[in-house]
Amino acid sequence: MKILVINGPNLNMLGTREPDIYGKRDYAALLAYLQSSADELGIVIECFQSNHEGAIVDKIQSALGSFDGIVINPAAYTHTSVAILDALKAVALPTVEVHLSDINQRESFRRFSYVSLYALKTISGHGFEGYKEALSLLKTSIVQA
Ligand code: DQA
Repeated sequence: MKILVINGPNLNMLGTREPDIYGKRDYAALLAYLQSSADELGIVIECFQSNHEGAIVDKIQSALGSFDGIVINPAAYTHTSVAILDALKAVALPTVEVHLSDINQRESFRRFSYVSLYALKTISGHGFEGYKEALSLLKTSIVQA
């Protein structure tokens, strides 16, 4: 089983960026956490991060035929991107949305997520652990399908 993990804009600045909200661990630590979670679950992952909406759309499109599912933290594009929603619908792979922070407990503009209109589930506010939950949930739903 092969899962594509996508992280959107500014997540490469983890550790430096608003540590009171996103924590002190950096993006390299997130990648290491993702790899150990995937090893534990017995799945193969590829991780991709971009600050550019079009690059994320291109990556989602390229997943068709190469991946069994997608874990995505679209970051700020969560709240603005019809293009990312449409790309996910176009490839129609099982997808779980993750947010490090609890987007429902922050500014009102963060409460709406375009991606949630397609995702199987949105996991929000569980920090790094949310990504492991997403991988596990995808594994279960893909095995059952
Ligand atoms: C985020 C939440 C978004 O609102 C924000 O724009 C991000 C990160 C999160 O992981 O908590 O960049 O997706």
